[in-house]
Amino acid sequence: MKKFAKMVIDKDFRIARIDKRIYGSFIEHLGRAVYTGIYQPGHETADENGFRRDVMELVKELDVPIIRYPGGNFVSSYRWEDGVGPVHERPRRLELAWRSLETNEVGINEFAGWAKAVNSEVMMAVNLGTRGVADACHLLEYCNHPSGTRYSDLRISHGVRDPLGIRTWCLGNEMDGPWQLGAKTAEEYGRLAAETAKAMKLIDPDIELVSCGSSGTGMPTFPEWEAATLTHTYDYVDYVSLHQYFGNPDNDTADFLALTMEMDHFIRTVIATCDFVKAKKRGKKDINLSFDEWNVWFHSTEGDNEEMKNHPWQQAPALLEDVYTFEDALLVGLMLITLIKHSDRVRMACLAQLVNVIAPIMTLKDGGAWKQTIYYPFLHASRYGRGVALQPVIASSKHDTKNFSDVADVESVAVWNDEADELTIFAVNRDLSEDIILNCDIGSFSGYRVLSHQVLASDDLKAVNGPAKENVAPEEQKGTTVEGRDLTVCLRKASWNVIRLGKR
Ligand code: AHR
Repeated sequence: MKKFAKMVIDKDFRIARIDKRIYGSFIEHLGRAVYTGIYQPGHETADENGFRRDVMELVKELDVPIIRYPGGNFVSSYRWEDGVGPVHERPRRLELAWRSLETNEVGINEFAGWAKAVNSEVMMAVNLGTRGVADACHLLEYCNHPSGTRYSDLRISHGVRDPLGIRTWCLGNEMDGPWQLGAKTAEEYGRLAAETAKAMKLIDPDIELVSCGSSGTGMPTFPEWEAATLTHTYDYVDYVSLHQYFGNPDNDTADFLALTMEMDHFIRTVIATCDFVKAKKRGKKDINLSFDEWNVWFHSTEGDNEEMKNHPWQQAPALLEDVYTFEDALLVGLMLITLIKHSDRVRMACLAQLVNVIAPIMTLKDGGAWKQTIYYPFLHASRYGRGVALQPVIASSKHDTKNFSDVADVESVAVWNDEADELTIFAVNRDLSEDIILNCDIGSFSGYRVLSHQVLASDDLKAVNGPAKENVAPEEQKGTTVEGRDLTVCLRKASWNVIRLGKR
């Protein structure tokens, strides 16, 4: 069958105004994310606080509105008190989640200062693995209470007069996972999370809380976990978390690129479960979705397991340093399109992670910082995906893969930035051998013309970037036209496309 794609984009067919926090990310005390990643006193670019300016510039370029911290699995045995106060008095600890040595040189205050410098908010996770209600309350009081109490005065004594004003809090991390320190059954977690949430909202009613969802669709308790835990936490929380990582261990690219169908199904199932609990509770509010861990992750896993087993207790070991290929960037683009398509309910999301650990930004300890292939789709979505997500009315030819049927050759979504009066179309051609023409009716955007068409394409699906050479980077494509209401775009085989239109 001849390959085709057609689409109608209309400014009145809206999904939602996108919450910019869907372009969030994540820094965990894991591997070299913090130490020799964002923080490296003595590095030639380090600022007066020891943070690498070269990394800060790249994070600022990505314009990441919110960054989850300090874990991840790390948080489930973290004692936040270890990371505050005079640095030379902070304990060195055995860090059990990643079997590493944690020096605690960076803690909450240092991280909050760094986040502010890169124009991001902090999404803070509390330890509900080895700790509970009281410690979560103390941490919140330390961070957000103005003064005159034990923990707020402790913060002030540490030189931080103004409250950190952290608005978004995660109630633990992946508490359903047997690997998690202090893993819990749904009943155990639901009760603990509800009681913690109740207490935290008494301290600061303005915070927003995220209840832990399943660690992934593959968990045997999914989605019963969501139904059972939200039944306890519904009254106190605002979001439920979703985590999903994909890989291509069998080297089947067509099947790999179809995986966002699974992500789409995951999101729909969680929405249905949230709405089921709402109905059961006779509730008024919706529980929204915080997709606070998502990415490709598989390249490094085998080596990391060996490393943690055979060489534990290293300081900042090189763990989870996946080097991303061009096809990984395509899947990241498809995952971003999926998030935007669900932006009415997915209000926050975090690319996991940001620096060195399954990350778009990498550093050399004794050198510079460089951009992975996945940097680019994330940059494009974060920069141009702000405004109103429009309902894509789209038809495309389809194909089957090993595990999926009726996979659309072309996936696409459009975002209208009504303030800048710009329309951006994100599109992926999943077909590995043929270019496809996308015909788009943009009749409601009269007078718009093509401002740019950026494309990420490569003849080598396994091409990677490195510190010395960038093999995968966007380029400008010519020949994209608007005539009357018809936009015509050639989507090159296996490509990520960003078509920007406006009146300028
Ligand atoms: O992002 C890496 C790890 O993946 C996180 O620590 C954990 O939450 C998830 O399993």
